[in-house]
Amino acid sequence: MKIGVLTGGGDCPGLNAALKGVVYRADRHGHETVGFLDGWKGVRDGRSRSLPWTEVAGIVGDGGTILGSSRTNPFQTPEDAAKVEASLRAAGVDALVAIGGDDTLSAALALYRRGGRVVGVPKTMDNDVNGTDWTFGFDSAASVAMDAAERLRDTARSHHRALVLEVMGRHAGWVALATGLASGADFTLLPEEPYDEERLFHHVRRAVTARGYALVVASEGIELTSAKGSVAAADDFGHELLRERGVGSFLAKRIEAGTGVEARSAQIGHIQRGGPPTLFDRLLSLRLGVHAVDLVLEGRFGQVAVLRGEQVLGVPLEEALKRPKTVTADWLDLLHTFDA
Ligand code: F6P
Repeated sequence: MKIGVLTGGGDCPGLNAALKGVVYRADRHGHETVGFLDGWKGVRDGRSRSLPWTEVAGIVGDGGTILGSSRTNPFQTPEDAAKVEASLRAAGVDALVAIGGDDTLSAALALYRRGGRVVGVPKTMDNDVNGTDWTFGFDSAASVAMDAAERLRDTARSHHRALVLEVMGRHAGWVALATGLASGADFTLLPEEPYDEERLFHHVRRAVTARGYALVVASEGIELTSAKGSVAAADDFGHELLRERGVGSFLAKRIEAGTGVEARSAQIGHIQRGGPPTLFDRLLSLRLGVHAVDLVLEGRFGQVAVLRGEQVLGVPLEEALKRPKTVTADWLDLLHTFDA
């Protein structure tokens, strides 16, 4: 068999480990792997390279993706869809493994519905894919954000300021939640909760009164009345680029005006997406990459390899894409137990 693989959407740590999982599992069963370049764009345009196991042997700890990535929607037009199918035929690919978040996987589902032999592997620093307990990339990204928050705490303490850290995560607050909890933030704002300025000011004042500084973590996706209408540029799948709204600097200004506490902000953006994957992400990526090939070998197309408890297993792509996975009430309860 010749198995194609692609990495699509925003990159994250663990993609290379997942590729290693795919290539080794295929090779150990006597199958060849070919990698499409830059996500679905490479499939559409017929750009690929051979991936012998020796090529991926040493990449388990490398950030980024050796295949490149893009936010290309290959089914935007019937012409593109036809190109995708022709390109897969021309490459002689018997099955395709699509590694990506909801957009990349929804393109995989579209291909499957057109008769394509495709399986998926979920990845995203946002951790917002339904049907899997965790996506790889999240643990690494949140660990970077936690480190940033702790550094901000040091300088907040020295200058008796409020420091706001803005983290990515789109419309799911998982990264902000984990960062806030793990760095001991005094207040954390998530897209899952309405923006409550009085509540924010209350906790900043309490923290500053108690110990002279405040640390706030905010998700880029929170809804701010004042930011509404300011629709930023959108990607191929129609998603607004939330980072451009600058909620962190907005919040710092509001805190200063509303509480009289001097405030600063930092936006770490794509720093969260680079660097080596954590141990957790490496293991998860390897396992899911391997399982995706098992799904192919078992003919379970239209499925995606996921983590449920301790197990990796396959579930239908439809299930994983039903809705984005957002932060649940029990996590919100835990988070706010630690407000200042
Ligand atoms: O989906 C992953 C993510 O990193 C989001 O957290 C963020 O909003 C977005 O990608 C940024 O996208 P881009 O890399 O296209 O700026």
